[in-house]
Amino acid sequence: MSFDKSAFNYKISSDHKSGTDLDILKRLFGNKKFDKTLDVATAAGHCAKIFNAKQYVVSDLSFNMLKETLTDWSSPSAVQNCAESLPFQNQTFDLVSCRIALHHFREAESFFKESFRVLKNKGFLVLIDSLVDIDDAFLTTIEFVRDPSHFRSYTFKEIVDMTSGYFRIEFMQLLYKKHNFGEWAERLNPSRKRLKKITQAFLALPENIKEELSLEVTDENILSYTDKKAVIILRKL
Ligand SMILES: C[S@@+](CC[C@H](N)C(=O)[O-])C[C@H]1O[C@@H](n2cnc3c(N)ncnc32)[C@H](O)[C@@H]1O
Repeated sequence: MSFDKSAFNYKISSDHKSGTDLDILKRLFGNKKFDKTLDVATAAGHCAKIFNAKQYVVSDLSFNMLKETLTDWSSPSAVQNCAESLPFQNQTFDLVSCRIALHHFREAESFFKESFRVLKNKGFLVLIDSLVDIDDAFLTTIEFVRDPSHFRSYTFKEIVDMTSGYFRIEFMQLLYKKHNFGEWAERLNPSRKRLKKITQAFLALPENIKEELSLEVTDENILSYTDKKAVIILRKL
């Protein structure tokens, strides 16, 4: 699994260890204290640490990611599992978080249903991920070239449709996230051939999509691109 081989890169990644999204969570949840929280697809645990909890549980499909989380943070219980089937009893957690990972899940709806099940009444589901609209098919294709475990990013409407009946949306903020192209493209240790493919896929985009992604290019070298992320706070109905 590519995540197992690049776990340390996710620990030091500037896209993951900090960001406006985490600052928003600190602002919204800084004064709240929880008994038990669960961070799904935690990678190196950057999102899990934001909340104040008596008990932390972190989960991920990748064993090495969980190992990386536990190297310098001894508090959490770590569980290796799939986000679409959570091995916890009904109504266990006050808050479930999932940051920059929904686009990997093969069955996003199952993840939402499982989060609903393991949350206590009125529990929070904190979701952060890329949002797409006109860039949908283009970005999904490029992301897949870079990382075949990328499944798809969703439109806001799709997220509303998947969660309605289970959750009420209490907060939503759209963010524009600029990615350093080199760091982003090389995070999963690609071969030179794959790296070239990723670069070419960006350079071949239609002009309106390059503009949408604020692609910065000098002499065929891509410096950065910017995508849309959403911080969505849902509450169990
Ligand atoms: C981009 S990283 C997540 C970043 C992390 N949440 C953070 O805030 O820094 C994506 C993670 O999703 C995990 N993952 C991918 N598919 C999964 C699945 N179906 N169930 C659980 N974890 C999954 C990967 O192992 C990887 O650690």
